[in-house]
Amino acid sequence: MVTFSISPADFDYIRDFVKRRSAIVLDDGKEYLVESRLLQVARKRSLTSLEELMSKLRSGMDKSLLESVVDAMTTNETSWFRDLHPFQVLKERILPEMCNGSNPKKELNIWSAACSSGQEPYTIAMIIKDYFPMREGWDVKILGCDLSAEMISRARAGLYSKLEINRGLPAMLMVKYFQQDGRNARIKDDIMKMVTFRQMNLVEQWPFLPKMDVIFLRNVMIYFTPQVKKEILRKARAVLKPGGYLFLGAAETTINLDDSFEVLRLNKTTCYRVRT
Ligand SMILES: C[S@@+](CC[C@H](N)C(=O)[O-])C[C@H]1O[C@@H](n2cnc3c(N)ncnc32)[C@H](O)[C@@H]1O
Repeated sequence: MVTFSISPADFDYIRDFVKRRSAIVLDDGKEYLVESRLLQVARKRSLTSLEELMSKLRSGMDKSLLESVVDAMTTNETSWFRDLHPFQVLKERILPEMCNGSNPKKELNIWSAACSSGQEPYTIAMIIKDYFPMREGWDVKILGCDLSAEMISRARAGLYSKLEINRGLPAMLMVKYFQQDGRNARIKDDIMKMVTFRQMNLVEQWPFLPKMDVIFLRNVMIYFTPQVKKEILRKARAVLKPGGYLFLGAAETTINLDDSFEVLRLNKTTCYRVRT
């Protein structure tokens, strides 16, 4: 039998703490994952044991430790053009629709609501730059948010390893929009400037956000309870412009959570729009 050095009491404490802070649910059986991530945090802070980390955590004195532990429990898996089809629909259907004469203000707001290390909002920026070189006067804003301070700082830096670049980025776009930086590749300024990043917790009160034409809220609600998903969808609905589109991850849906959304099958992807 596999045994863990994290005690059941510590595991319960961590999952309670992480759920309260981020809504992320750590199921039974995740002891190994929790332990290995806690050990990473301990190592970075030169703490000598799990016990030392747990006792500092319980004291609640070190705010940055609290944040690091929640941060360490997030799963930041992402890639360029992840799942491909949502981005094809964005390029072939949604952007042309939004950039025709029906948008007299010439404004476009797109939100990547759990953007991890930035691949999703930068993918959107490259599509817009490539296929919709906006005419004079267009105001395009792409916002990338994430709970993880570490991910937001990585996204802002726009620096990616070879391994990360190889996950879904077409060679043509690599050549066009990245420059070599040591053994890594850095996204060029013209794409970087199109995206603003901010740390944000989806389960806390949302800050003021502009009305969004498109929201990418992908592969984050899978970690939440149905009640939390409902609340987030309600808030996303309030932020979407009339006629705006919502994309969720392939394993996520609004069905049985929020009937105000209609489900649209476009090409090979599903997206959602608030019913009129
Ligand atoms: C699996 S990644 C998804 C990244 C990207 N959307 C994609 O589909 O490739 C999930 C992200 O959600 C973030 N996250 C988890 N809980 C969150 C919360 N309460 N508020 C905001 N972001 C959260 C994590 O930090 C992580 O970077």
